[in-house]
Amino acid sequence: MSFQTTLSIARKNLRIDDEVRFIRSWIEKPLSIGAVTPSGRVLARTMASYVDPDSQGPVIELGPGTGPVTEALVQHGVEPRRLVLVEFNPVFCRLLRTRYPEATVVQGDAYRLKSLLGAIVRDPAAAVVSGLPLMTKAMRTRLRLMADAFTLTAPGAPFIQFTYAVMAPIPKALPGVHAKPSELIWLNLPPARVWVYRKL
Ligand SMILES: C[S@@+](CC[C@H](N)C(=O)[O-])C[C@H]1O[C@@H](n2cnc3c(N)ncnc32)[C@H](O)[C@@H]1O
Repeated sequence: MSFQTTLSIARKNLRIDDEVRFIRSWIEKPLSIGAVTPSGRVLARTMASYVDPDSQGPVIELGPGTGPVTEALVQHGVEPRRLVLVEFNPVFCRLLRTRYPEATVVQGDAYRLKSLLGAIVRDPAAAVVSGLPLMTKAMRTRLRLMADAFTLTAPGAPFIQFTYAVMAPIPKALPGVHAKPSELIWLNLPPARVWVYRKL
C-alpha cells in the first residue's frame, strides 16, 4: 500500500472518530452542540478564507468543536500559536490541546467573552471565527456577543459566523456594522451560509 493511500485512510478514520465524538456530544447536549456532525471541508474553508493569514494578532475561534474550522485556518496559513480556541465541551478541549499544542485552548462559556479572554488576548485580534449555535440564543445575547468580540478585535477585523438558517444570525442592517453573506454552501450537511460582520 502506498504512503498516500495509508495517509488518506488515516485521515478518513480520524474524520469518522470526530464524527462519533460529535454525535455522542450532540446526544448529551443537543442545544449546546447545535449540529449533528462537524462542519464539512468546504464550509470550514469558506470560514477560514475570510481571515487574512498575513494580519497581526490572535485569531479567536468560538465553539471549535473537534476542529474542522481550526484545521482550515491552519491550512489557510494562520500559525497555530496565534489561535485562541474557546470551547465549552471538555472532551473537545482535550482533543484540541492534543492536536494544536501551540494554540491557546480556553475551556469556558464564549458568551462571557470579555471576562474569559480579557487577560489572555492582549493585542487586538485579527478575527473572531464563530461556530457557536447562535440561533439557539436570544437576539440580545447574540448582539452582546458580537459587541464583546469587537472590543477584542482590530478596527475592521471580521466577526465570522456560519448558520444553517435562511435568516442572518445577527441582523444585517445594524448601525455602524457592515454585514455580508457568502453564497449558500450546498456541499455541507445541512447546507450553510457564512456571514461576515465588520465594525465600520
Ligand atoms: C455547531 S458546533 C460547531 C463545531 C465546529 N466549529 C464545526 O464547525 O464543526 C458548536 C460548538 O460550539 C460549542 N459551544 C456551544 N456553546 C458554547 C459556549 N457557550 N461556549 C463555548 N463553546 C460552545 C459546542 O460545544 C460545539 O463544539
